[in-house]
Amino acid sequence: MSYNLLKGKRGIIFGALNDMSIAWKVAEKAVEEGATITLSNTPIAVRMGDVNALGEKLGAEIIPADATSVEDLEMVFKKSMEILGGKIDFVLHSIGMSPNVRKKRVYDDLDYDLLGKTLDISAISFHKMIQAAKKLDAIAEYGSIVALSYVAAQRTFFGYNDMADAKALLESIARSFGYIYGREHHVRVNTISQSPTMTTAGSGVKGMDKLFDFANRMSPLGNASADECADYCIVMFSDLTKKVTMQNLYHDGGFSSMGMSLRAMNAYEKGLEEYMDENGKIIYG
Ligand SMILES: NC(=O)c1ccc[n+]([C@@H]2O[C@H](COP(=O)([O-])OP(=O)(O)OC[C@H]3O[C@@H](n4cnc5c(N)ncnc54)[C@H](O)[C@@H]3O)[C@@H](O)[C@H]2O)c1
Repeated sequence: MSYNLLKGKRGIIFGALNDMSIAWKVAEKAVEEGATITLSNTPIAVRMGDVNALGEKLGAEIIPADATSVEDLEMVFKKSMEILGGKIDFVLHSIGMSPNVRKKRVYDDLDYDLLGKTLDISAISFHKMIQAAKKLDAIAEYGSIVALSYVAAQRTFFGYNDMADAKALLESIARSFGYIYGREHHVRVNTISQSPTMTTAGSGVKGMDKLFDFANRMSPLGNASADECADYCIVMFSDLTKKVTMQNLYHDGGFSSMGMSLRAMNAYEKGLEEYMDENGKIIYG
């Protein structure tokens, strides 16, 4: 059902790879709600993924760009304004990748060149995106910029590795830039902290199936799906949230406020064997 929440608005959606991607669902809903959009992803993702099919379906042009390149990002904003016929009202940063995770480098054996890449792709790209937009004066008054985060920015989760540090930086950038952009142009900058979601990036997280199940059991409302995340993004792009900025907004069924739930405790009771290393020592964690 459409509420026309984005009628006449122009947006850029970064990070739709395939129909599991959160950005894919956001793009579909944005158009359903009356927006016109452009889509962007890396040249390789555009070649290998299904984003061309999404573009065709939604009548949206695809602008290949590496989000770590300032020149590419400037080009995306310039082209999008040309194509859509004016300043941009909303932007989704739905980008994340850790080469350390991909190469199975654990947190106490990180490769620092790869850590630099994780931070650049998953967090600093958000700064680059906002700075490029601001320098070009590409965002309309009360425009809305949203990036997707995860609760590992605040609390430690086994296996989330250097992505936790990237998400902490991402959320900090939203606050720091939200102040400046809000003060000068009334542009809102927020992050949405989403439940574990079965996507290509999500499946890279160690033990994702168990993490997904644990979060689901802990959350009174259950895990939030990619579709539900898209709904929240639409509300954040709409005029209904004009005074919300510099926030990290949990969209997690209540997980972030829980300590222990009955459902999680029941599952825990089924297996109380301690996890031990090869020397029989209990591993706490
Ligand atoms: N899946 C989850 O469990 C979960 C939970 C909370 C937050 N998030 C966040 O949601 C966002 C979207 O991830 P997703 O789960 O939809 O997975 P996804 O794999 O569908 O999306 C990740 C996207 O990042 C893009 N990307 C990677 N490097 C890039 C670069 N250099 N420039 C431009 N784009 C680049 C990929 O091509 C891909 O489209 C990420 O920030 C992720 O961390 C995901």
